[in-house]
Amino acid sequence: MAGRERNQTDMDKGIVIPDDWPGYPLDLFTSPEHYCEDLECVYIPHGVIMDRTERLARNIMDDLGDHDIVVLCVLKGGYQFCADLVDCIKVLCRHSNKTLPMRVDFIRLKSYLNDQSTEDLHIEGAENLSVLSGKAIVDTGKTMKTLLDHVEAFSPKMIKVAGLLVKRVPSGTGYLPDYVGFEIPNRFVVGYALDYNEYFRDLNLCLIFLCGKQFFDKQKVQKNSF
Ligand code: HPA
Ligand code: MG
Repeated sequence: MAGRERNQTDMDKGIVIPDDWPGYPLDLFTSPEHYCEDLECVYIPHGVIMDRTERLARNIMDDLGDHDIVVLCVLKGGYQFCADLVDCIKVLCRHSNKTLPMRVDFIRLKSYLNDQSTEDLHIEGAENLSVLSGKAIVDTGKTMKTLLDHVEAFSPKMIKVAGLLVKRVPSGTGYLPDYVGFEIPNRFVVGYALDYNEYFRDLNLCLIFLCGKQFFDKQKVQKNSF
């Protein structure tokens, strides 16, 4: 199966963000005013995500050699990471003498209700697949295992998984993507296409923790006012 068990070297885990990392104060960056009250801090600045993604793209190219690939983007949360990863691969191809024939396909997985992972997983799309998968976030690993079972049924030559964020979840399956951007504490993050009930995907500058309280309260107020 693609991916690895979690007894790997430091390099495999990507950039490890410790449990006590406080993030950067919000007012050191710009983020949309309509979200200011709901956010706690800037957790990973956008530039750091981009620099790390560029390195993942290089590792992927080194490993894939001259194989044609199908990039399978896991929607919705993975769209930004996938788009940036594909862009980086294209730039690297242009600057080296490599060509990497690439198709891009999309799949949609739903396993989250509010900020909680549920057992109930729905897969939509990708009826006719052959290879590689890009997901923005891996927490318990259950979603990824189910997705890989689905993809393996198409007997691709090789499956590799790239994950931007992997959470340190005590109850996780031990699953680890082949390419990891960052290992982060088990906290709920938004921005860079990751949402909370479809909000916050438009924070494209940086990855930010949801403070929680104000947003939950505001939603309750909105619900009650209809
Ligand atoms: N944020 C947004 N979506 C998610 C997360 C998260 O922390 N974990 C799993 N899906
Ligand atoms: Mg979501």
